[in-house]
This record gives sequence, C-alpha cells and structure tokens, in this order.
Amino acid sequence: MSDINWAALQSAAEQAAAQAYAPYSQFPVGVAVLAASGKIYTGCNVENASYGGTVCAERNAIAAAVVAGERKFSALLVYTPQAMLTPPCGICRQVIAEFFTPDAPVASCNHLQQQQQWTLGELLPAAFTPTYLANSTKVGA
Ligand code: THU
Repeated sequence: MSDINWAALQSAAEQAAAQAYAPYSQFPVGVAVLAASGKIYTGCNVENASYGGTVCAERNAIAAAVVAGERKFSALLVYTPQAMLTPPCGICRQVIAEFFTPDAPVASCNHLQQQQQWTLGELLPAAFTPTYLANSTKVGA
C-alpha cells in the first residue's frame, strides 16, 4: 500500500520503544500499527521476572488497538535501536495473522533510519487463521 505514512509510524514506534520495560534483556522494542480507521496504536515490550510472562511490543500494540474497537489493520512497524533490523518473533507473527491479511506490509526500522519490509505472507506462509475454525467440522461436542 503506497498511502502508508511510514514516517508517522516510525515516530510512534520510536516513542513506544522509549517506554519499553526491558530490565532483563535490555532490548527495547516499540511497535506502531496502522488500523483500517486510519488511527495509529502503539505498544512496547513488557518483561517479567518470570521470563515467560514477557509480552512483546507487537502483541501489546495489537491489544491496545483491539480494546479501542479495531479489528482490521493495514501495516505494522517495529522499531529497535539495533544495527540488525528486528523482525517480529514467531508468536507475534501468529497474532498478527489473526488481524492482518497476507499482503499487509510488516516492516522493521532502527535509529539509523534503515527499514526492511516484508509482507505478512512472507513472514508466516500457510498461516493458521480464523478461516480454518469458521469452516471446520465440529467433532466430539
Ligand atoms: N521482543 C519484542 O518485543 N518484539 C520482537 O519482535 C522481538 C522480541 C522483545 C521480547 C523481549 O522483551 C525482548 O524483546 C528480547 O527478546
């Protein structure tokens, strides 16, 4: 999609990364998602002393949008102040696939103004989506 304001998304994601709670990894992440409404929502990673309780910035951004009533999205941008551009982790790819179409752009940027872009379909081919449940045969109920 060519009408995406990546500069606005980067600014929002960068501000979100500044709020990251990452005392264990010291790897702050900020994410901005562009909803179909045109609004931008953000999230940062929130770690936990019980490490498995950590929630990534991607999932927190999507949750913030969902609680505001959003269900469709047109882009997601990850910001990390790292020389290596950070793609979403596997669990987050699955959560992104719940709400984004396979052709939606998912991008990563950093403090060096570098950006790499994929489609969701490239990051998670053959995703398990709500369609499989909607078309399922109910067994054992
Ligand atoms: N993290 C994210 O928030 N998003 C990613 O895309 C990669 C990983 C977080 C989880 C954890 O707080 C830290 O980065 C190191 O894994």
